[in-house]
Amino acid sequence: MAVGVFDSGLGGLTVLDAVVKRLPEVPFVYFGDNAHAPYGVRDADDIYDLTTAAVTRMFDAGCDLAIIACNTASAAALRRMQEGWVPRDKRVLGVFVPLIEALTERQWGDNSPPREVAVKHVALFATPATVASRAFQRELAFRAIGVDVEAQACGGVVDAIEDGDMILAEALVRSHVDALKRKMPTPEAAILGCTHYPLMQEIFQDALGPDVAVYSQANLVADSLADYLSRKPEFIGSGRESMFLTTGNPAKVSNAATQFLRRKITFVSA
Ligand code: DGL
Repeated sequence: MAVGVFDSGLGGLTVLDAVVKRLPEVPFVYFGDNAHAPYGVRDADDIYDLTTAAVTRMFDAGCDLAIIACNTASAAALRRMQEGWVPRDKRVLGVFVPLIEALTERQWGDNSPPREVAVKHVALFATPATVASRAFQRELAFRAIGVDVEAQACGGVVDAIEDGDMILAEALVRSHVDALKRKMPTPEAAILGCTHYPLMQEIFQDALGPDVAVYSQANLVADSLADYLSRKPEFIGSGRESMFLTTGNPAKVSNAATQFLRRKITFVSA
């Protein structure tokens, strides 16, 4: 039994950490496409090709279920994959839906018609590709009415984090929050719509102020995965081994991942 967790790079380790804590008995196969990160500046066809290649590798490693932890890939490729690519006996899930279910106070998997919800002004921080896809707004419209979403494309933040330059990352986050506030001065909620951003959560919260509820995905995805597997245990695949696969340089990626999660992580070549 193994479940795949995919990200363009290291950011998905924030999701991996949460799912491992929530489901300690399940082996996870993590796939970081570090050689091709960042995805946030690529076009949709390119993201689709890279994501399907990565998910195929996770299926080969014994996963029947893959989580696309990367928001950019969830936004640009997931729907197309689900509509025509995913084999019948496999499942591929993204990270937007659990987040939107939490924001709109729905039970996991509640597909009832859209309704009015408490929150009215939502700020979305994400990569340029995620913002351009409008996937978050589309999924939200299936579930809620009357919610105003202002999206801010946070160029440069992922590169700064992948390069370990947290001073630059902080400066960029503060300037992106300022830009968002010029468009929407008083959001009630802010979505960190990129796996890398939980590492900057305190900076986002500080720049947004204490009255803004900041939603980040890792724990929400973990809860919804636990719920999904309790309803559909047949999708815990045949793999028995946890592993960390990368398209990048395994030694370099292992080093960065070990710093990122503050525990020893060893990647091997995908
Ligand atoms: N980690 C990805 C996400 O959640 C984006 C990083 C990238 O641009 O590759 O959107």
